[in-house]
Amino acid sequence: MTNNIKDKVVIITGASSGIGEATAKLLAAKGAKVVLGARREDKLKAIADNIAKAGGQAVYQALDVTRQDDNDAIVKLAKDSFGKVDAILLNAGIMPVSNVSALKTSEWKQMVDVNINGVLNGVAAVMPIFTAQKSGHILAVSSVAGIKAYPGTAVYGGTKWFVRDFMECLRMESAMEGTNIRTVTLYPAAINTELLTTITDEGAAQGMAGIYTAFGIAPDRIAQVVAFAFDLPEDTTVNEFTVGPAKQPW
Ligand SMILES: NC(=O)c1ccc[n+]([C@@H]2O[C@H](COP(=O)([O-])OP(=O)(O)OC[C@H]3O[C@@H](n4cnc5c(N)ncnc54)[C@H](OP(=O)(O)O)[C@@H]3O)[C@@H](O)[C@H]2O)c1
Repeated sequence: MTNNIKDKVVIITGASSGIGEATAKLLAAKGAKVVLGARREDKLKAIADNIAKAGGQAVYQALDVTRQDDNDAIVKLAKDSFGKVDAILLNAGIMPVSNVSALKTSEWKQMVDVNINGVLNGVAAVMPIFTAQKSGHILAVSSVAGIKAYPGTAVYGGTKWFVRDFMECLRMESAMEGTNIRTVTLYPAAINTELLTTITDEGAAQGMAGIYTAFGIAPDRIAQVVAFAFDLPEDTTVNEFTVGPAKQPW
């Protein structure tokens, strides 16, 4: 069995909980050198310590994905710590869903800033390296709300549709430019993480809680898919995964 994950240097945004944390732990267990970023540094430290105790390698740094400087700094941390960057998992995200009529306009802007600008900032930070080395893996966490419309998720879903389009254009352009930058876009359904804590609208929170209680599965399921994508040979890209609970109709 090949192991194309071993020794890869992988930056993970939103690594302090949920999908990011689970993916960091699994990739580190498979020999990747992981670079963890999120705003809650205490959580990142605990996860990095846990990885080190298990024999893996991890470094971390406070990161707000809405700030370009922070994204550039975590790429520098990866290079300074491990000498190179092979991949970035653009995972940081928030989901304060509500109906449009609730007019939670500041939450709309926050979602655009974290879920869209955060992805753009991360891509801008790694692209010069990936283009120069003619290799690199860019993975982004969209959502099933990025491929289907669901009432209540007009803005959240819109940010995730953006990710889908952007990543597909990036994949095509890098193939045309011969830079061998591979892309993976993930479309998770209900995964039990801290994501629902970002919802302030009572009705939306209750509705979502019902769905997650009925269907939710653990975030390591997404980590397994990320590991699968990483494990493929350099000449192969598998660019989209819709992943969720077998019993959730979506
Ligand atoms: N769970 C699901 O059912 C599901 C389904 C589809 C898609 N997704 C997507 O999966 C991704 C991960 O979410 P999750 O489900 O694992 O939820 P989570 O446990 O709430 O994790 C979200 C992560 O994003 C980080 N984050 C939020 N704002 C940030 C910012 N400005 N800068 C840096 N990091 C930030 C959080 O860390 P800090 O608070 O420490 O910054 C946290 O580590 C998100 O993009 C989400 O939209 C999740």
